[in-house]
Amino acid sequence: MPRSKDLLSISDIADRLPAILTRATTLKRLRARGRSPAPLKGRTLALIFEKPSTRTRTSFEVAAHDLGGHSLFLSAQDLQLGRGETIADTARVLSRYVDGIAYRAFRHADEVELARHASIPVINALDDLEHPCQVVADLLTMHERWKGRFRGHRLAWIGDGNNVLHSLLLGSAAVGLDLTAATPVEYPPRPEVVSAAQGLARRSGSRILLTHDPANAVAGADALYTDVWVSMGDEAQKVARQAAFQGFQVNASLLEKAAPRAFVLHDLPAHRGEEITDEVMDGPRAAIWDQAENRLHAQKALLELLLRPRRR
Ligand code: CP
Ligand code: NVA
Repeated sequence: MPRSKDLLSISDIADRLPAILTRATTLKRLRARGRSPAPLKGRTLALIFEKPSTRTRTSFEVAAHDLGGHSLFLSAQDLQLGRGETIADTARVLSRYVDGIAYRAFRHADEVELARHASIPVINALDDLEHPCQVVADLLTMHERWKGRFRGHRLAWIGDGNNVLHSLLLGSAAVGLDLTAATPVEYPPRPEVVSAAQGLARRSGSRILLTHDPANAVAGADALYTDVWVSMGDEAQKVARQAAFQGFQVNASLLEKAAPRAFVLHDLPAHRGEEITDEVMDGPRAAIWDQAENRLHAQKALLELLLRPRRR
């Protein structure tokens, strides 16, 4: 099957994840020595964002610049999209100017629509279904801490069955990492994503387990991962969600149940005191700041792969 030009789901790059992580590690090392290569010279990445962003926007812009390219931030409200120009027409026009689009959308269907009508790569910069670039950075962070070995390690997810968990289920299954996800009964991951992850897991040998009991997920885990209880777009459900997530906080007593060297991940932004305590976030077990930094290195590997000129 021909490879997709786009990165809409982390499953689009499932077979290339090991190479992407190796390349991101190299690019991180080269940057530290001030020797980043410039494969994107003369190329432009447009960023269309329908929702706020600190990390994704900044890391994409810096990544494009580091690789010798250029980036162009386009807030969805300032585009004619906000006045009713279609996604398809926007895709057709931008394809004449730029070499790739990173798109943060409310609806995954819009992501697919943009990609369908663009002749250039479209990269999902978060939507309601997935957050693939985040999970490449998460895998890079675990890869660093476990010296390149996913097999035999287990990640525990404590929280919402959301976009980040969906990409994490698929990404973990692709690289052979075991994942146990604890979500409230009312907020499980989507069944079609779970079954796609189980399909990848059968090939890689990873174990994907779902539970509603945080203590059960965390027992003996090598890393813990949490995310906000109320994602962007879910604000109307805030009260119901805060009730449903009681008992799902990553705090010192939950962390104690994990393996002695376990570390903690959070994609950020965090709601301190809700899904995670200050003590854990600011403590020695947090890998969160390395994880945030790794957005940059991971995205450089992705941009190099997806945006560099193709041989005709
Ligand atoms: N983790 C993440 O995507 O952060 P931003 O929303 O700040 O981009
Ligand atoms: N699940 C969160 C991730 C933010 C980076 C959201 O969608 O708001």
